[in-house]
Amino acid sequence: MLELSPDFFAFAYLVATILFIYGLKGLSSPKTALKGNWSAMLGMALAVGVTLANPEVKTFTWIFAGLGAGAVVGVVLALKISMTSMPQLVAALHSFVGLSAVLVAAGTFLAHREAGLLDTVAMIELGVGSAIGAITFTGSLVAFGKLQEILKSNPLVFNGQHLLNLVLGFFMVGFCVRFTVTGDPFSFLGMTVIAMALGFLLVLPIGGADMPVVVSMLNSYSGWAASATGFILGNQLLITTGALVGSSGAILSYIMCKAMNRSIVSVIFGGMGSADSAAVSAGAAAATKGVKSASVEDVGFMLENARKVIIVPGYGMAVAQAQHAVKELVDTLLEKEVEVKFAIHPVAGRMPGHMNVLLAESDIPYDCVFEMEEVNGDFSSADVCLVIGANDVVNPAAKSDKASPLYGMPILDAYKAKQIFVSKRSMKAGYAGVDNALFYYPNCSLVFGDAKSTCESLVAAIKGA
Ligand code: TAP
Repeated sequence: MLELSPDFFAFAYLVATILFIYGLKGLSSPKTALKGNWSAMLGMALAVGVTLANPEVKTFTWIFAGLGAGAVVGVVLALKISMTSMPQLVAALHSFVGLSAVLVAAGTFLAHREAGLLDTVAMIELGVGSAIGAITFTGSLVAFGKLQEILKSNPLVFNGQHLLNLVLGFFMVGFCVRFTVTGDPFSFLGMTVIAMALGFLLVLPIGGADMPVVVSMLNSYSGWAASATGFILGNQLLITTGALVGSSGAILSYIMCKAMNRSIVSVIFGGMGSADSAAVSAGAAAATKGVKSASVEDVGFMLENARKVIIVPGYGMAVAQAQHAVKELVDTLLEKEVEVKFAIHPVAGRMPGHMNVLLAESDIPYDCVFEMEEVNGDFSSADVCLVIGANDVVNPAAKSDKASPLYGMPILDAYKAKQIFVSKRSMKAGYAGVDNALFYYPNCSLVFGDAKSTCESLVAAIKGA
């Protein structure tokens, strides 16, 4: 059989790494995202193929059993999962990465400790890998539970929380040091169990609008856990790809925190998104003030007679799968020579880039899609702002109400438009669970109904006019 040299493996892993980097670069823009995905898939195929060709792999039975089971689950999930459930799927997948880091560390320790093959560096790798993996595992499970609404999504805060985390963190590090020095299996166990408890406790107090940052942070942790696994297994590719995931997740978390005006330290240590009772009662009081509603005919009339319309899509557009109906509405308005722009908030929907993906799916041209900072100055000159299934991202309370959990998050300045119409089904709150001050503005009316049928009716109303 052909003997492959170590240089061949190193070279193949280098090529796979370059393909992953190229993939990440491609994902930074909708125009290049498809190429980026292909590049990453090619890199992964190369990585798996070359790893299987390694002479250290003696038997394929368990590997193929795992690959087969994973492929079946993966294909079923990919076909069945709805776009709106992606964040919880991502959280669930991160938990697998965390658990596998723990299992690899435990397996390596048990297999090699007798033969004395583990030096101090290897012991540190095992300890750190298992600790990061354990935190990622349980933290991701809690994030999954919250996003899937198995657990309450609001922040769970209790007295002495930070002190408890500090004490547990201290014991975790203590056990880790003891394990690396003495090789005591009970220290390994103690460290891993405490790290699991910490994962739970760190994510439980986070909720509301801060959840996306947590998912992105866990993404970063899962990368570092994979990297630590790479050190344990002596696999350079796992080290570099883990570092790529770890650092890109950390950068994304930082960008999201900046977009929401949150401190990343406060998000990591929890409790930031807690709604206080004053804000909730203020919202309840506002509900008694009355809200105007508009008919589809009224909205259609205003839209076709506008010079400039800004559309703000949000989570509700994804739920209603209204993107194709929105495209039809845009085409109808463009035929009437109305200028149309889309305003995208960085955390609109339930995952980064959620709105961009949906708009691209329905072939809405990129040149009419604008990010928040590019478009915010345009609202004051817009005749109509049509909000389709967005809520938190246009809530002016984020600017003015210090008691609101959204306070400090930059918003799309929809309230500055001459007339605002909001398409939604009821008076229910958005993700952060707070009432929207915009609905009570004199220039705002709500168009009740499912976003898809509202857009279809708008097209019919404008065409029929
Ligand atoms: P939300 O504030 O969640 O509001 C969504 C709105 O859509 C609700 O008012 C809902 O009202 C409406 N809606 C739901 N189904 C609808 C349908 N079929 N037709 C019409 N309307 C429908 O959305 P947003 O403004 O996009 O803000 C996103 C929120 O999610 C932020 O708080 C953000 O922090 C959080 N979040 C974001 C991410 C990322 S990374 N983007 C991830 C997780 C969480 P009705 O029920 O009355 O219809």
